[in-house]
Amino acid sequence: MTRTFPDSFSWGAATAAYQIEGAASEGGRGPSIWDTFSHTPGATWAGDTGDVAADHYHRWLDDVALMKKLHLDAYRLSISWPRVQPGGRGALNPEGVEFYRDLLNTLVEQGIKPAVTLYHWDLPQELQDQGGWTNRTTALAFAEYARAMAREFGALVDIWTTLNEPWCSAYLGYASGVHAPGITDRVAALTAVHHLNLAHGLATSAIRDELGEQARVSITLNLHLVRPHRDDSDEDQAAARQLRLVGNEAFLGPILDEDYPPDLLDLTAPVTDWSFVQQGDQQLIGQRLDVLGINYYSTATVRRRMAGPGPVSSGGHGNSPVSPWVACEDVEFLHPEGPLTAMGWNIAPEGLYDLLLSVGRRWPELPLMVTENGAAFDDEVSVDGSVHDPERVRYLHDHIDAVGRALDDGVDLRGYFVWSLLDNFEWSYGYAKRFGIIRVDYQTLQRTEKTSAHWYAELVSSRSLPAVDAGG
Ligand code: FCB
Repeated sequence: MTRTFPDSFSWGAATAAYQIEGAASEGGRGPSIWDTFSHTPGATWAGDTGDVAADHYHRWLDDVALMKKLHLDAYRLSISWPRVQPGGRGALNPEGVEFYRDLLNTLVEQGIKPAVTLYHWDLPQELQDQGGWTNRTTALAFAEYARAMAREFGALVDIWTTLNEPWCSAYLGYASGVHAPGITDRVAALTAVHHLNLAHGLATSAIRDELGEQARVSITLNLHLVRPHRDDSDEDQAAARQLRLVGNEAFLGPILDEDYPPDLLDLTAPVTDWSFVQQGDQQLIGQRLDVLGINYYSTATVRRRMAGPGPVSSGGHGNSPVSPWVACEDVEFLHPEGPLTAMGWNIAPEGLYDLLLSVGRRWPELPLMVTENGAAFDDEVSVDGSVHDPERVRYLHDHIDAVGRALDDGVDLRGYFVWSLLDNFEWSYGYAKRFGIIRVDYQTLQRTEKTSAHWYAELVSSRSLPAVDAGG
């Protein structure tokens, strides 16, 4: 039987500013840590940068027309902090504000609801020069920026997301160093975790302060679905728990529960005493959340490392001699079993179902949204210029089916955003990995809807899951 979805369920696509905008030094935009990092030799694949990216800054009107063509209910975008407030403090840049105002106005006019992320990793470089997320004042500056954005765009934004995947900002940015600012320092990484949590809480309060209680505020986390290698092994179970503490509870704890769990503090005690947490911080962080955004791509399977230090594994997050998994040096990632995407990530739709169920059961009152889900594959362009991407269609079909099963089982799930609307700058992988349902030719910047885009449009307009061969 065909799976159907309620009309109220929101279907969208997601992007992030640095990955698509380009125009890195136009319109009064200041530098961000990703400009600095991507211009550092050896930091990204083939030295790719976001200088031009998908040139969305100049082509946004065409891109909104494409969204309309796909019948999208919602569009998840991020605001580039250094575009609207170069330097991260003080006066706003009118040109940057105007860019987003035009974009948001057009979306609203077209009936596409904007879901706006305030921080998708592009910290103003000046704030990094003062320590970035290791400096508590960055969290205070972020709250002021959030307040300014709420003041400017309050009437246009459907849902505010404070941070995208603070896990990546903290651990990939400061522990393994495969993301900007490229630091490898475990204490710095845990300090960043806390200041990101604080930034989220302070920004949430600032947005509500500016717009009132009706403003909807969320955060997006990349929660890790970690499985033990052997279910009957206490050691493997403990290894999986360790990863969940560092990967998930470091954020869920203070944001949605009482505080950082004591087990996390014990586990990380050899690294830090968490003295960067100040009295009263928990009250600041634990603000009411209207929606929790979840990004999901794949699962991880781990076991206890038995003998001596082996090669470190990033668990699928880039190449670095240093693991992003602080205080998990005795945890070993198993090589993922196929099928895999072009990222080397395993394709595991049941992981999404399990994750949604576990979060849904733990916080039954909290609405959830899948704010990113999708896959990179090595797409091929046919002689007639079309892009047939059956693997991506299959991936989306199976994951959206898992979303449907979670809905059937009573999870309060409000929407789904495919990652991504467009092929784009995939961070340290540069332009080598294509996640878009719309292809971008990086020579001509021309857009071409892939088969997956047609398939997704069919899903959105029919509110029912098309067969995998339905995209044409
Ligand atoms: C997520 C990021 C997003 C994109 C996807 C593939 O971690 O939020 O920007 O890079 O992965």
